Amino acid sequence: MKFAVAVLPLVAAVSASCLHGTSLLPRAADGTVHVNSYNYTNAGGPLNWYGLDKEKNSACSHGKRQSPIDIVTEDIDYATADSLRFNVPNADQAKFENLGSGLEVVLTNGTLVTSKGSYQLAQFHFHTPSEHRVNEEYFPMEVHFVFENSAGSIAVVGFVFQLSQFGYSTPLFDSVFAHIEDIATPGTYTKTGALNFAALTNHLKTHGIYEYSGSLTTPPCSEDVAWFISTEPLPLNVQSYNAVKKVLKFNARYTQNALGQDNLLEVAANN
Ligand SMILES: *[C@@H]1O[C@H](CO)[C@@H](O)[C@H](O)[C@H]1NC(C)=O
Ligand SMILES: *[C@@H]1O[C@H](CO)[C@@H](O)[C@H](O)[C@H]1NC(C)=O
Ligand SMILES: [Zn+2]
Repeated sequence: MKFAVAVLPLVAAVSASCLHGTSLLPRAADGTVHVNSYNYTNAGGPLNWYGLDKEKNSACSHGKRQSPIDIVTEDIDYATADSLRFNVPNADQAKFENLGSGLEVVLTNGTLVTSKGSYQLAQFHFHTPSEHRVNEEYFPMEVHFVFENSAGSIAVVGFVFQLSQFGYSTPLFDSVFAHIEDIATPGTYTKTGALNFAALTNHLKTHGIYEYSGSLTTPPCSEDVAWFISTEPLPLNVQSYNAVKKVLKFNARYTQNALGQDNLLEVAANN
């Protein structure tokens, strides 16, 4: 099944962020999907996100705590599983959108409780290849569950994926990607299958969790984002990976400087 297509002229596209679906970025009530003006190609790509909007995207080229990073497992902090409560109730289906810059499931039933308080789910979305590296190693795919609290602070729970030698995927993601071929064109949306988050919640609870304070990995690259990333990759079958990659193409921001160090764009400009 394919639903309404509404590709806006890129110049008219709304300002983009990791936060589509939150109060920070109004969503069209008519079910259209607005394609983001930033992307991962040529002058629309991460090297020029600041250039796309110097006021809004200032952190993209000046921030010193930018994401994604290379996670150095000897140096990074770890959250304990019981300091984090990730709770996303099962859903019969959800809207699954192609934003041009990425693929996003719109689901707002869900909460994250951290030591800093309670956050509400805004959406979850995918990157190929992974944005984070672990001791320099990258992964084929990464999912980000984006949460926001009432003060507008953001927390993201992330998982990287590893190809399964047994042809197995966490069933939740088989269900998310059930109709992915319907949204090959930016600006389209479809529905996921039934979503059951029990196994994912259990995965997060039963493995280590990297924790750091970074940024959105997409414009406006805002900082003070609380990152929580499972230390154990999720399994992904090769067919799903190839199907996702074909639609999602390439949407990973380059690895940023170590936390606290000068922004790489400033470093490069001064050489
Ligand atoms: C990427 O974004 C730029 C700037 O908005 C735009 O000019 C270009 O057409 C986009 N390219 C693709 C492949 O979407
Ligand atoms: C979200 O929760 C509300 C209230 O409990 C419920 O009516 C709604 O069906 C839920 N949405 C999904 C997608 O499950
Ligand atoms: Zn993301």
